[in-house]
Amino acid sequence: MKQDNPSQSDRLQAVFDYHQATKHRFEAFASGPGMLDWATQPDPFRRYAGARLISLETVAPTDEPRFDAIFTPGHTPAASPVNRHTISQLFYDSLALSAWKSIGATRWALRVNASSGNLHPTEGYLVCGPIEGLCAQPMVCHYAAQEHGLEVRAEFDSALWNTLSSGFPAHTFFIGLSSIHWREAWKYGQRAYRYCMHDAGHALGALSIAAAGLGWQTRLLDDPGTDELARLLGTMQAHTSEPEEPDMLIACLPAQPAGALPELPAAVLQSFDLLAWQGRPNQLSPSHVAWGIEAFAALVRKPRGACAYETFAEPPQSWSPTPRPVALRRMIRQRRSAVAMDGETRLSRADFYRMLDRTLAVPGAVPFNTLPWTSQLHLALMVHRVDDLTPGLYLLVRDPAQRAVLEQALTQADPWQKPPGCPQQLPLYCLMERDTRAAAREISCRQDIASDGCFSLAMLAEFSGPLERYGPWFYPRLYWEAGMIGQLLYLEAEAAGIRSTGIGCFFDDPMHELLGLADRSFQDIYHFTVGGAVEDVRLSTLPAYK
Ligand SMILES: Cc1cc2nc3c(=O)[nH]c(=O)nc-3n(C[C@H](O)[C@H](O)[C@H](O)COP(=O)(O)O)c2cc1C
Repeated sequence: MKQDNPSQSDRLQAVFDYHQATKHRFEAFASGPGMLDWATQPDPFRRYAGARLISLETVAPTDEPRFDAIFTPGHTPAASPVNRHTISQLFYDSLALSAWKSIGATRWALRVNASSGNLHPTEGYLVCGPIEGLCAQPMVCHYAAQEHGLEVRAEFDSALWNTLSSGFPAHTFFIGLSSIHWREAWKYGQRAYRYCMHDAGHALGALSIAAAGLGWQTRLLDDPGTDELARLLGTMQAHTSEPEEPDMLIACLPAQPAGALPELPAAVLQSFDLLAWQGRPNQLSPSHVAWGIEAFAALVRKPRGACAYETFAEPPQSWSPTPRPVALRRMIRQRRSAVAMDGETRLSRADFYRMLDRTLAVPGAVPFNTLPWTSQLHLALMVHRVDDLTPGLYLLVRDPAQRAVLEQALTQADPWQKPPGCPQQLPLYCLMERDTRAAAREISCRQDIASDGCFSLAMLAEFSGPLERYGPWFYPRLYWEAGMIGQLLYLEAEAAGIRSTGIGCFFDDPMHELLGLADRSFQDIYHFTVGGAVEDVRLSTLPAYK
């Protein structure tokens, strides 16, 4: 492949090659460091030395809003005013620390958003106009999770803000997410780009849900190019610390938009280059191994331009089970990964169906109303311990129009059957009745959490089709959708009184073989497990902030 200016088809081939090369196989894991080099362990917190820090409020969770309400169109809370308190709450419920854990002299922070290996490559940015109690002038800030504060990287004038936000509802602001790939590459090597994009999706899900708790809507703004985002967020400023690759920009809308949102003008985004940027990013490790990830990320940068995404031929429909008296923010702040599952806890069939229902992109429903594309991912579920449901392999078709294509592609399936008691609206099918515990464990890198829970699953992405249709830059977006489903399932498990864990380590092609998938029209891109957790009693838990 020519490196200088690769064509669209070269880039697409590079995506297929990267994906193939970073598959874990029974014979060998994808290239990685093997042993961890503790001397180069990256600092989990980026700080901009010299940038002014605005501290945010910590907001203790209350009983309102209710968890189920915010996912039910028409039941979301009234929009809160945008001020220092609500901006504090938005970050506190999405990207903030949730606790410190310690054992002996070692301690580490957990966050509201889950992250592969707890390495947290995702960084958050706020781009806003004047906000009551927070800032008198428009600004670009980096979110400092350890301090729960905003580092002011640049201030700019109202005229620029007015042009940037023109056509958006009043009080709209923007959140940017970026990735420091090195944080994941340090541990996971070449496959780390995938984990960074899962994590970006988890953060996106966390932000959408936290915003919904404030009665705000979120929309992914997909028309700016990646280079323009780098200018807007200030990540293109030259420095010698680990690079940050901008991933996405999200509009946070305190009011329902009257129609389609406007495009962000190219010239305005370019002009952010000229601001007086403050602060120097800290060095996270004394040395690095590249693993080719920055070069790959450059190949999947999005060019400028709105994409004419397809719309649902048959939008998924809601089923609306009875709401529970569960508080949204308590679930958000208590979310944790299970490190082991008990092999006993069972889930009721109704709770299982409810969880799956939540993962459907029903029109207007949080968090998938943030995404401009239709669902590209389907869930292949290995059901182990769900009451009144035969163990086996099941499939949730998240885009009902894909049923026939999937039925043809999954050549190992028995005739598809609707499971007993399954709501008519839920596109769930039993593909084969059998004990899948050993297969689930084996395929999820022999991790017991995949077999000892109530169920585990593989997220099957429509793969070559959307990449060929939209472009190689759609590759990270498949992972964002996967991460968003993962963050939602984490919260659903908490609401059902159990636990869950994202599983990035799995053997890709053995899962495809289990399903009888022969080509790359669908690819398994993320695993997840849900069940009764076994707590590690050796660990102490300390509050996130004093
Ligand atoms: C994308 C992703 C992949 C993960 N993969 C695994 C995995 O393969 N095995 C595992 O035990 N945990 C896995 N986890 C769980 C993380 O280790 C966990 O989120 C992290 O340690 C932070 O803990 P917390 O979720 O309790 O905040 C994964 C999490 C994410 C988001």
